[in-house]
Amino acid sequence: MTNHLQLAAYRIDPALVPHRRLASGARIPAIGLGTFGSDHVTARQVADAVVSASAIGYRHFDCASVYGNEKEIGAALREVMASGIPREELWITSKLWNDKHGEEDVIASCRQSLADLGLSYLDLYLVHWPFPNFHPPGCDVGFRGGNAEAYIHGHYMRTWRKMEELVDLGLVHHIGTSNMTVPKLSLVLRDARIRPAVNEMELHPHFQQPALFDFVRAHGMEPIAYCPLGSPGRPERDRTPEDTSPLDDPAIRTIAGRIGVHPSAVCLKWAVQRGQTPIPFSVNPDHVAANLRAIVSDPLTADDMRAIAAIDRNCRLIKGQVFLWKDGQSWEDLWDPNGEITPP
Ligand SMILES: NC(=O)c1ccc[n+]([C@@H]2O[C@H](COP(=O)([O-])OP(=O)(O)OC[C@H]3O[C@@H](n4cnc5c(N)ncnc54)[C@H](OP(=O)(O)O)[C@@H]3O)[C@@H](O)[C@H]2O)c1
Repeated sequence: MTNHLQLAAYRIDPALVPHRRLASGARIPAIGLGTFGSDHVTARQVADAVVSASAIGYRHFDCASVYGNEKEIGAALREVMASGIPREELWITSKLWNDKHGEEDVIASCRQSLADLGLSYLDLYLVHWPFPNFHPPGCDVGFRGGNAEAYIHGHYMRTWRKMEELVDLGLVHHIGTSNMTVPKLSLVLRDARIRPAVNEMELHPHFQQPALFDFVRAHGMEPIAYCPLGSPGRPERDRTPEDTSPLDDPAIRTIAGRIGVHPSAVCLKWAVQRGQTPIPFSVNPDHVAANLRAIVSDPLTADDMRAIAAIDRNCRLIKGQVFLWKDGQSWEDLWDPNGEITPP
């Protein structure tokens, strides 16, 4: 484990880290630490990474009940706050899991995350996926829950009303969506009393989602970028032969070679300069530090940005197969490929 002296040497003043201004006026650090360790690291390792990352200068942490580590992260956050970082300087996100969309479950589930994280409020609470569906954490992509259903807007809005109530109760400061599409978000924006502050979505140089990215920003939401490095550590079950890796892309590697950084740093500079908020995961303090350093050091040139814009491969890595609701479907159906919500 990296010692305190090494962490101090890595430290970056959080005031130097770029921030975004949300529609509410709140400021969110333009990079966060992901906390989904897949199956390959323990909850304790992720919690240790939270402590290291805050010593390095991170203030934004992307959590979720389904990651199975909120209790350990809660202990880590207590340590972080005991070290002198006030709660108001932290940005903590959590997410409602798919089997808790029921009206009676939303508030209880949020309260459980708050209890586990040891907090009195969350900065942001997301509906993790737009499909209510039980599947056990870590299950194979071929798993089909007996209760799987299509996106039904009326059902989503019943859940959203409870999300809005969480804001009214002061338990969360902002609410947001995740894994949405333009047609689904259009309906939510039409019907929401409290609009989503953010949409969390897969975004990396091989999956730039330009239409959804532009839509999200045009409607005053912040795009939060998951898998910003192309998720090189994701489990086998989430890999398919068509997947490509932005870290191996010749354009990214050429830029990285020229400026003397790891390809990860190029992906993160690109993300922040393009206007999204990446949440890279790492339990390696060298990587955690390098990722923060990437976004406070020299920016990419306009030519670099153009070169990366040109390598989009529309390569979605997190396909969501477990949410398919009937036989004979392909995972694309989950993402409304025809510009309309895929009918049940
Ligand atoms: N809303 C959603 O549905 C959703 C879905 C997926 C993910 N997420 C969130 O997004 C976060 C990030 O996604 P992700 O973890 O799948 O993918 P990612 O951040 O693109 O990639 C993480 C992987 O990159 C490696 N890495 C990190 N920094 C590195 C560096 N500087 N050099 C070399 N390797 C580096 C990490 O390994 P080391 O630990 O060895 O550094 C880890 O294996 C998750 O943790 C989670 O919080 C949300």
